[in-house]
Amino acid sequence: MASTVLVGTQWGDEGKGKITDLIASKYDYVVRYQGGNNAGHTVVHGNTKLALHLMPSGVMYEHAVPVIGNGVVIDPGALVKEMALLEAEGVSCKNLKISCNAHIIMPYHKDLDGADEKVLGKNSIGTTKRGIGPCYQDKAARKGIRVQDLMDEKIFRLKVETALAQKNPILEKIYGIHTYTVDEIMEEYLPYATILKPYMAETTQLLNEALRSGKNILFEGAQATMLDIDHGTYPYVTSSSCGSGGAAIGTGVGPMAIEKVIGIMKAYTTRVGGGPFPTEQLFPENGGEGEMAQVGEKLCAVGHEYGVTTGRKRRCGWLDAVIGKYAVDVNGLTDIALTKLDVLSEFDTIKVCVAYEHEGKRYDYLPMQQSVLFHAKPVYEELPGWKGVDITGCRTFEELPENAQNYIRFVEDFVGAPITMISVAPERDCTIFRGWDR
Ligand code: GDP
Ligand code: IMO
Ligand code: MG
Repeated sequence: MASTVLVGTQWGDEGKGKITDLIASKYDYVVRYQGGNNAGHTVVHGNTKLALHLMPSGVMYEHAVPVIGNGVVIDPGALVKEMALLEAEGVSCKNLKISCNAHIIMPYHKDLDGADEKVLGKNSIGTTKRGIGPCYQDKAARKGIRVQDLMDEKIFRLKVETALAQKNPILEKIYGIHTYTVDEIMEEYLPYATILKPYMAETTQLLNEALRSGKNILFEGAQATMLDIDHGTYPYVTSSSCGSGGAAIGTGVGPMAIEKVIGIMKAYTTRVGGGPFPTEQLFPENGGEGEMAQVGEKLCAVGHEYGVTTGRKRRCGWLDAVIGKYAVDVNGLTDIALTKLDVLSEFDTIKVCVAYEHEGKRYDYLPMQQSVLFHAKPVYEELPGWKGVDITGCRTFEELPENAQNYIRFVEDFVGAPITMISVAPERDCTIFRGWDR
């Protein structure tokens, strides 16, 4: 199997965890390259459902080495807790490798994340409040503290002292919240350092050596294209390069090592937090009424659309194929895995957004100005559904109802990349492969 990037094509929660877990058996390394424990990736085995936040979803296979790359931001307390939970479920984390260049989320990053959101008020991003943005801010400002700093107590103390000299006045004078002493941070973080030291590694060298010896790598994206700091709906994005380009930056392998890019596309769209979402079917509590509110509520209820990390109700809407086309371009998708197709079995007809309209102008591509996207009305193509047919048992494309086959063909033709996997239920085996191994 060729080295592959797996990336979300929408606003996250497309089912990246399921597909990573499904195909990880074919890879030697499974690597997270950006984001942190803002991610919530679900993998389901029999009756066990696991939520992964920092651990690559390939951890379920003994042979696949899980790697946390340099582009990830790590909350060491959250990682230690996640490892303990996995071990308690019988999932071994012994092979984990953590990049020494990854940045560490400090307690004040989480405080600042919450405080910044409060200041933004109704314009807040709706972050996960895990400290992601403030940690990446320090990285870009060259003030961050890295995993390697945890290896030497003296260096770590010095870095914490320097950081607090800047952070404490901000916490106290600008936000009026509590400050930290060096000792209290040392007391919390040194035990994490002891636990995590055996897993710290030179992961850039490790991955490049692996490629040289013919091994293959699966790069597991978190968040998604429309939450990418450059290509997403800025400022309603996360603070990292979620797209496939981020895989090279966030791991230290050259871009030519990447041979396949799979985009994970939910058969409809969801979004958590603020920002534009043209196909949103507003819930009644957000002002939606009639058919719109019914469709939104149905997608949410049937798709169980509640956040894995924060438990928030996800905003729901029809598939936005304009964004799908954009995701094909931005990531260079070679394949698409279409997920949660079973959720659409509840509808008489299915809408797909193929363009936007604003002030009499039609947009076939993402408009240049975000203000247009905020107010754009979707132009829909309405396709016949397969209401009432249970497709969760289908394992070949041909077994799917004809209208489901037509829906898939319509989407792949429109966005311009082949749908080579179709997911029809949360479990690993509830998947249709369609030329994936080519
Ligand atoms: P991720 O963040 O992209 O990994 O996605 P999440 O785990 O946050 O959300 C996807 C949800 O959909 C999880 O609860 C999965 O178990 C579930 N899921 C994945 N694929 C399917 C599918 O084909 N059908 C249904 N009904 N649920 C699915
Ligand atoms: P997975 O990997 C969905 C959203 C937040 C917020 C914005 C910024 O499970 O798909 P952040 O805490 O990153 O600064 O928040 O990004 N967000 C996600 N939405 N799925 C995720 O991850 C997300 N991670 C962050 O809701 O709007
Ligand atoms: Mg998720």
